[in-house]
Amino acid sequence: MTIRVAVLGMGSVGKGVLEMISRKDLGIIVTGVADSKSGLIDPKGLDIGAVLSSKKTGACGNPSITAKDVVACADYDILVEVTPTNAGNGEPALSYMKMAIERGSHIVTSNKGPISLYLKELNRLAGEKGVLVRYEATVGGAIPIMHTLGNGLAGNEFQALYGVLNGTCNYILTRMAAEGLTYDQALAEARELGYAEADPTYDVKGIDAAIKLVILANTIWDNGASLDRVDITGIDLLTTDALRLAEEKDCTIRLIAEAFPERGVLRVSPRIIRKDHPLVFEGTLNAITLETDMAGEITLIGKGAGSVETASAIIGDILFISSHVRSN
Ligand SMILES: NC(=O)c1ccc[n+]([C@@H]2O[C@H](COP(=O)([O-])OP(=O)(O)OC[C@H]3O[C@@H](n4cnc5c(N)ncnc54)[C@H](OP(=O)(O)O)[C@@H]3O)[C@@H](O)[C@H]2O)c1
Repeated sequence: MTIRVAVLGMGSVGKGVLEMISRKDLGIIVTGVADSKSGLIDPKGLDIGAVLSSKKTGACGNPSITAKDVVACADYDILVEVTPTNAGNGEPALSYMKMAIERGSHIVTSNKGPISLYLKELNRLAGEKGVLVRYEATVGGAIPIMHTLGNGLAGNEFQALYGVLNGTCNYILTRMAAEGLTYDQALAEARELGYAEADPTYDVKGIDAAIKLVILANTIWDNGASLDRVDITGIDLLTTDALRLAEEKDCTIRLIAEAFPERGVLRVSPRIIRKDHPLVFEGTLNAITLETDMAGEITLIGKGAGSVETASAIIGDILFISSHVRSN
């Protein structure tokens, strides 16, 4: 069975998804694509190589076709929504997703905006239409945390979760501890290497990690978690001295996102932790620890971002839906 997808967003993630679909024989064809200025539709399947080379020189398609046209008119089983995150109201991705669900299409997304704000509503709409909303790529990049929650650990009760959910912060803290760099020096280095955005506010102030914590909490406990209920402290005021003092006690500092639902705790903050703790590792990796009743403590660790790494999560979701459709 061939699965047809339309891809909205042709940035790092969208291009990674197209490259992997074209390189691997996965039974996926792409019948629509769009970026912010153009779109392309072909019910028989687009020539992915041509789309990618056209994108290299500017727009991916025809300027008279919009993303909305692709959502409304392309023939697809799954809408792959990988446009920028809008944490304020989730738009325009939220509207694209609702329109696709209304048409009876499944959704796969890496977009944290609509999922952190409207997961319950999207799941309700999808349920009414008998389709699925999958969002593995919104948290932890390549780490299969959602599959683990929904499948591998199905039947467990979850008492708590904590993790390192932002690779940029982890990189900065690693470099401050290892080389005695100041926060500004480590941030400048992270920017040079492409690990930090030109405007790193969301990352260094802990907001990105908090949004991911909200998505995890709502997925696990369906407890109405929202960004304004997360107690957030970033790493932007941390000094080299604080890291040095932690080092003297064989500890270090990491930006930890944590949820303890019984105590009403939803928090992102720099924490002093022992160097031999599973959540202490170098560079841009992410990790999530789950406390469960049957499986005990489980920690997943892996690449938290990147074009191909995020494509891995998106393709996992597409193939999950494909096998779900086949078995129903
Ligand atoms: N990069 C990662 O490693 C990573 C990891 C996990 C999750 N995510 C999330 O995945 C999403 C995509 O990330 P990215 O790094 O690929 O972003 P990106 O490089 O900034 O690319 C965004 C793409 O979306 C297109 N776009 C913008 N507004 C649009 C609109 N209204 N309609 C259709 N397309 C639109 C842009 O078009 P133009 O090309 O015309 O500008 C661009 O192609 C974001 O929500 C991000 O938070 C990213």
